[in-house]
Amino acid sequence: MQQRTAEWLDKDKVNRDYHDRQFREPYRSTIAFCNWLETAGLVAREGGLRILDMCSGAGANIYYMSKRYPKMSFIGVDINADLVEQGNVFFQSTGIQDCRLEVGDIYNLDPRYVSEFDGVVSFQTLNWFPEFKAPLEAMAKLRPGWIAVSALLYNGPVSCTIDITEYDDDLEPTRSGFYNVCSLPVVRKHLEGDGFRDFQFTPFEIDVDLPKPGHGLMSTYTEKLEDGRRLQRSGPLLMPWYFIAARQSSAASGSTSSPAS
Ligand SMILES: C[S@@+](CC[C@H](N)C(=O)[O-])C[C@H]1O[C@@H](n2cnc3c(N)ncnc32)[C@H](O)[C@@H]1O
Repeated sequence: MQQRTAEWLDKDKVNRDYHDRQFREPYRSTIAFCNWLETAGLVAREGGLRILDMCSGAGANIYYMSKRYPKMSFIGVDINADLVEQGNVFFQSTGIQDCRLEVGDIYNLDPRYVSEFDGVVSFQTLNWFPEFKAPLEAMAKLRPGWIAVSALLYNGPVSCTIDITEYDDDLEPTRSGFYNVCSLPVVRKHLEGDGFRDFQFTPFEIDVDLPKPGHGLMSTYTEKLEDGRRLQRSGPLLMPWYFIAARQSSAASGSTSSPAS
């Protein structure tokens, strides 16, 4: 798979603030995702699981999880060596031993990750690839006990490929990136085809207001509906966030699916 990597590797295109500010304050979605993982029966506060965070950025999500789940150990894998170094320096300087980041490419993962993890998580990344099947398959090939992902999904038989371009003040193109929306039933079908069943899902509805940024570029903000729920938007797009999870068949407690929404 030929992936366009400029948006992930060019220093002037990587949004460092997106990674940094999560260390100061985790995103509401990260907290809600962990709440849901517990409800879904995949993690427990005192459980000693080995977790891989696929496309971990600088590791802010495993940092949050390591504080919440002190008996677990975490490895984050990301293609951006600068983010990996930044995260590892932070973990070492703060004496956090159960988190480590490694440079890796989801399209060409090191085979030593196979059968090494109880769970693979991936936060807000699946939609940022050219398409979702190869990244899902790459996670499934690692044969973890379960896979859990936060992603932009549509609960119907439609997927959208959305390739955005941002412009500078002179309206010259500065940055491109995918913001695809994947069909939830198709994602489920692919996971099942890769041997992951017990599919669970829930929409994520944010519980705080996020102001619309003045620059008008891609950045999440909210609009409140009459019934009090909040729509999440970014630039011109709606952001239909879901949390999904499935267990490896041999690790599943049963073959019945149990949607959590
Ligand atoms: C939208 S960011 C999400 C980062 C992190 N999961 C979070 O929630 O903060 C997507 C991440 O995927 C990484 N990435 C992009 N392509 C990748 C690839 N082929 N293999 C591994 N990581 C990749 C990027 O470097 C970036 O850190």
